[in-house]
Amino acid sequence: MTILLTGGAGFIGSNFVQYLLRHHPSYRVVNLDKLTYAGNLENLDSAERNPQYSFEHGDICDREFVGSLFRKYTPEAVINFAAESHVDRSIIGASEFVRTNIVGTNVLLEWSREFALKRFIQVSTDEVYGSLGPDGAFTETSPLHPNSPYAASKASADMLALAYHHTHGLPVLVTRCSNNYGPYQFPEKLIPLMILNTMGDRTLPVYGDGGNVRDWLHVEDHCSAIDAVLHNGKNGEVYNIGGNAEQRNIDVVKMILHHLGKPESLISFVKDRPGHDRRYAIDAGKIRKELAWAPRHDFETGIVETLRWYQEHEPWWRNILNGEYQHYYRKMYEER
Ligand code: NAD
Ligand code: TYD
Repeated sequence: MTILLTGGAGFIGSNFVQYLLRHHPSYRVVNLDKLTYAGNLENLDSAERNPQYSFEHGDICDREFVGSLFRKYTPEAVINFAAESHVDRSIIGASEFVRTNIVGTNVLLEWSREFALKRFIQVSTDEVYGSLGPDGAFTETSPLHPNSPYAASKASADMLALAYHHTHGLPVLVTRCSNNYGPYQFPEKLIPLMILNTMGDRTLPVYGDGGNVRDWLHVEDHCSAIDAVLHNGKNGEVYNIGGNAEQRNIDVVKMILHHLGKPESLISFVKDRPGHDRRYAIDAGKIRKELAWAPRHDFETGIVETLRWYQEHEPWWRNILNGEYQHYYRKMYEER
């Protein structure tokens, strides 16, 4: 099978490229990535030596270029990871989110239709469902209620993709996963940001009262879930993905401090994110039951492995911390 995968130089995409090459050595994997601030070819060192893997530098919104890739590779499946993915950046400005996440998805859908693709997986997020109160969890039939510009752009793309299934019979499947963590995550996100700040004895900026809850999943478990959907999912269906690992942000931060042997005095409660969703929790009963998927990583062990990974990959994160990220960090946190 030839798979056209987008956003494969980002956090989850690069983990998935490596996962595919390991688990399906006969597959051809084509990675289309624009290499935005979040895309990094250093995430793919081992893949680059694999003859089954090709990299194509380009934008999913570039209709002509995407068409040329369909002609060149005639993929059987598209897996769309490419996105602007950070909520805080979508609050600063949403245009790129609308462009990549919605328009880009539409370009991929159009070419997939023309080439009679066998599988189109739209990689989405639990954030499309909005925020929960203290109880309950999102199921696939929960109403969509996206609250951030990021979530709104992802919800739009989901609906567009599902409309292409309904209208044109395109074999679309949508996955909605909870928050991921693990190797190669860009340090703007909570867990790597807190790990790197702790390692550098910098303050840990916890938004609001730290009581917001996220449901964490190790990136490898997300990869195995997408693999299950790719091979055994039913066209036109949505699959929630999550590992029952709800944590308050403050508890995640304290766990990182504890395992790195640093004091809680590094914590600083800062101004809250506008429109901050209080709680996410995923009911993954459908994928567990129908596709026999189960996560393998326990949260605390996964956090310890992840912080060891950051300790062992200093050149990787130093390059990021010394680049554009410095400006972003100052803008986002200096006056918070
Ligand atoms: P990321 O920001 O780390 O990576 C995004 C990748 O997409 C980068 O390599 C970037 O260069 C590329 N990209 C951006 N715009 C592009 C464009 N116009 N054309 C081609 N490539 C482009 O994101 P991530 O955390 O790996 O997330 C991947 C996907 O998973 C996203 O669709 C996101 O919405 C979804 N998701 C993420 C999480 C999470 O916790 N990170 C959870 C659930 C779902
Ligand atoms: P994030 O990793 O940005 O993921 P998302 O907003 O998509 O869930 O944030 C996870 C949680 O951590 C969220 O409740 C916001 C909070 N947070 C902080 O408290 N401080 C920070 O510096 C960041 C980046 C996030």
